Formats: sequence, C-alpha cells, structure tokens
Amino acid sequence: MENRDHAIAELARRERLAEEGGGRERRERQAAQGKLSARERLALLLDDGTFEETDKFVTHRCADFGMADKRPPGDGFVTGYGRIEGRTVFVFAQDFTVFGGSLSEANAAKIVKLMDTAMRVGAPIVGLNDSGGARIQEGVVSLAGYADIFLRNTLASGVIPQISAILGPCAGGAVYSPAITDFTLMVDKTSYMFVTGPDVIKTVTHEEVTKEQLGGATTHNEVSGVAHFMAHDDRECIAMVRELLSFLPSNNLEDPPRRPCSDPVDRADRELDTLVPFESNQPYDIKDVIVRIVDDGYFFEVHEHFARNIVIGFARLNGRSVGIVANQPAHLAGVLDIDASVKGARFVRFCDAFNIPLITLEDVPGFLPGTQQEYGGIIRHGAKLLYAFAEATVPKLTVITRKAYGGAYCVMSSKHIRTDLNLAWPSAEIAVMGPEGAVNIVYGRELEQAVQQAEVANGAFTEERRAEVLAAARAEKVHEFREQFANPYVAAERGYIDAVILPQETRRRLIAAMEMLDGKRDKNPPKKHGNIPL
Ligand code: HXC
Repeated sequence: MENRDHAIAELARRERLAEEGGGRERRERQAAQGKLSARERLALLLDDGTFEETDKFVTHRCADFGMADKRPPGDGFVTGYGRIEGRTVFVFAQDFTVFGGSLSEANAAKIVKLMDTAMRVGAPIVGLNDSGGARIQEGVVSLAGYADIFLRNTLASGVIPQISAILGPCAGGAVYSPAITDFTLMVDKTSYMFVTGPDVIKTVTHEEVTKEQLGGATTHNEVSGVAHFMAHDDRECIAMVRELLSFLPSNNLEDPPRRPCSDPVDRADRELDTLVPFESNQPYDIKDVIVRIVDDGYFFEVHEHFARNIVIGFARLNGRSVGIVANQPAHLAGVLDIDASVKGARFVRFCDAFNIPLITLEDVPGFLPGTQQEYGGIIRHGAKLLYAFAEATVPKLTVITRKAYGGAYCVMSSKHIRTDLNLAWPSAEIAVMGPEGAVNIVYGRELEQAVQQAEVANGAFTEERRAEVLAAARAEKVHEFREQFANPYVAAERGYIDAVILPQETRRRLIAAMEMLDGKRDKNPPKKHGNIPL
C-alpha cells in the first residue's frame, strides 16, 4: 500500500513539474506580453476535456553547458492529440518558458513521433509555435531534429492538413517547417518570423530594420505572403485554426465534413443582376458577389491582406465545402500579377489535394504588363496558376461575371483545361483583349487613313478637330468590336460556355452542378510527380 501511494505521488510530482514549465516568473513574463501559455493555448484549441498528452516525461539528453541538472519533464514541448469539432487532431505547443521553447533532440523526436502517428491515422496536425529556434546548447543535434521534422512536413504534404500558428518568435531555419505546412497564422505584434534577424542584417548589409518591420504579422500577411491569416491575439488565432479545420477533411482520402444547410438551395438573389456595373472599367467588390451565392453569406477568406487583386477562401454550398478563387475588380482591376498567380495557384493545389471542389469567379482584364512583372518572372509565376487549375481533378466550376480576356481567360479554369461547368453572366466579355486595345491594334492604321481621307475631302483639320474625328471613328469601331466579340455568345456557340445564366440563378446552378459532380472521378497520367514551374 505504501509503495502504491508512493508511486502515485511520484506521478503527481512529475506531472506538476511538467505542467509548471519554466516556473512562475517566466510564465508571468509570458502573460505580461499578452501571450497565453502553451497549455492554455491547447485547452482553447481542442474540444473541452479531449486533450491526451503524450511524452510528458521526455527530457533532453544534453549534459554540456550546465544542462545536466536542468531537465524539466516535457522539455518545453507539449504534445498529444485531441478533438476539434469531434474529429481527431494531433497537436504540439512550444512552451517559451522552458529554454525559450527551443528545439532539442528530445522534443524533435516527440514531434516526429506525433507526425508519424498523424500520418498513420490520417488526422491533421496543428503546431503552436513560440520558440527561440534550435537549442543552442545542443548544436548540430538540434539541427538534425529540425531536418527530421522538415522531412515529415514534406511527406505529409497533401496527405494530412498541416497548420502552423505562430504565437511568438520563429526564427532561422525553424521558419521552414511552417513554410512547408498548408496554412500559417500569425498574431499581430507578438509573433515574428525571419530567416535572419535584425542584428545579423545590420552587420551584413548595414540595413536597419525592426523585428516587427522585418517579420511581423503585417509584413508576412501583406507583403511577403508567408502568412495566410492575421489575428489580434492568441484567442482569435486559435479560433481561426478551429474555423479553418471545419472546412477540411481529415486527410486526402476523405471528403470534407458536410454541414446541415438551412439556406434554400434555390435562393435567387436579384441584387446580383445589377451588381456588376454596366461600364466594364468600373470596379465592384467580388466579395459582394461571393456572399450572395454561398450558404448563409459566410465566406472564410484566406490570404486576405496579400495580393488583393485575387480573392481566395472557403465557403459552403448546400453544406459542402468549396474553395473559391475570384478575381477582384475592386483592386488593380482584378489583374493577374506575380503575387496573385502564386497565391491562387497554391490554394488551388491545396483544394485539389484535399478533395475540395473549386469555384472560380472570373472578371480579369489579363496579366499585368510591365518590366517589373516581366523581370520578376510573370511568365513562370502565371504558369503556376495555369498548371494548378489544369492538373486539378476535383469538381471545377467557373462563372464569368464580366471580363475574361486573353491568356487569363485560358488560365482561370476555362473549359479547355478540364473545367466541368463553365457559366457566364450576360455581362460577360470573352475576348483576346479589351475592345479599346483590340481596336487600336487591328484598326489603328485604318482609322488614321480614314481621318486623312476626310482631310483630303474637307481640308486640313485643326489638332483639336482631328482628335475629335479620330475619337468618334474609334468609338464606333469599339462599339462594333464589343457587339461582335465582347459578349459570352461566341464562346457559348462553341460550347466553351455551357450556359449563359441570369446572375440571380448562380447559387442554384452551382449547387445543382455540385450534385451532378458528386461522383466525379478524374485522374492525371501516372508519373512520379509533375514539374510545376516553381
Ligand atoms: C536555448 C534559448 C534559445 C535557444 C532562447 N533561449 N533561445 N535557449 N536555445 N535557441 C532561452 C534564453 O536563454 C532564456 O533562458 C529564455 O530562452 C528566454 O530568452 P530571452 O532571450 O530572455 O527572451 P527574449 O528577450 O524574449 O528574446 C527571445 C529571442 C532570443 C529573440 C528568441 O532568445 C533569441 O534571439 N534567441 C536565439 C534565437 C536564435 O538565434 N535561434 C537560433 C536560430 S537558428 P532563461 O533561462 O534566461 O529564461 C535556428 C536554426 C534552425 O533555429 C535550423 C533549421 C535548419
């Protein structure tokens, strides 16, 4: 009896030590920064009472630099599994209060074990990152631990969803694990990510920059595109992770969870009929279109602050998850540039890997011209989006709301790259380019000649009069061109567009098509892997 009591007391003692982390003072410092502790974060992330901790008593094996007598159980990483909306999810949380949440050989092994199990059972993995990086005292052994994790991240890519929340520092090579995962979330002001910090930058390039400017949440959400979501605090960030997972299947062999839907499937929204401005160069917000089509007007936007000329995110149609890719006429006229292409391509590939049907809303004037884009490689970056849409085998549905010009017409999930249903609104303009540009190229010389002939007949014009005559002749040609080409009917006559529909019918038509495509099975030719233009 005495032995049994002793054994139970020993367990309690070790558990208490593990849960204490780096001690009260360090925990208070963490809280003073507005950060939750690793365990508080996990409690918020998982359904109540479902967290099962693993490897709680693992300790590091380093005896150098006075580490031998500092071996807190758990070694600063809290690992295990639990449930989110009833589904199994594997989780780890780095505890900054223990050796700065740094990665040791021992806690790298904990993560590797977790990832291997997540892969075997087909469940997502969520990492809550808050770490000073490689455990300095362990040297290359810690680096090896990172590499072991990077390998698992890569092998798990496209098999189970992987999500990284950055809730503190994430520096050096450590950033490459989140970078390989599917989605990265950052908390404003308390998180940062960079390959080399401000001090090294100052020494090497003499450039002065703050941590926040270099790798804060705003930088990575707006400028670099490294992060997909920005939260105001830990709580909001963790709520976003739960929300994100609700749209995703647990693995690539499952379909996403289906929700009951009380929004009528045949709901017609007459506002849609007048939402697109008559003038084709007037902006409108494509998100106004999205929310009028999807269930309950709910759109969960991804990469909201980056490359705003394309909008991506998740929604539901009749309770089924869909991935939405939409040109945004309200920003840079919805043009495709390097950032928009890369943003769209990665999302399309994610949805395809995880059986999430793709809905494309198209209003695109083409690819952005200019030396900056050409030198930056718009050719290969634009090709990513084309490649991603073309190789995707999930149900693909496209609605052209207005412009579909040039190469961008082909790229944006056109019929020709295996899209299952291509719809167009009556306002659609499908052409090689906009009427103004086309008229300048095709009729430029003819128009000049017409003016010259008019001058021969009527005597030389003043500069002003000449410009007027030319503008009137050009306007006539633009009108002619628009009548002939800038409409959906040339494409519809050839079957490139399956139906021209009233905008108000869009929801019903998309839902009917999703049902029709329920059993879709499509395959790409067998190969080791394709060679997407990276
Ligand atoms: C061991 C570390 C540590 C690390 C922090 N600590 N980083 N211990 N290895 N990498 C410990 C500190 O000694 C300190 O311990 C506690 O964590 C808190 O650190 P502070 O510096 O007091 O905190 P703060 O002022 O908030 O600064 C946080 C920090 C800073 C900016 C992250 O600690 C820092 O610069 N750390 C080193 C970051 C780094 O260069 N890591 C290697 C990156 S390269 P006590 O006992 O005092 O509480 C890398 C390679 C990955 O990671 C390789 C992949 C291929």
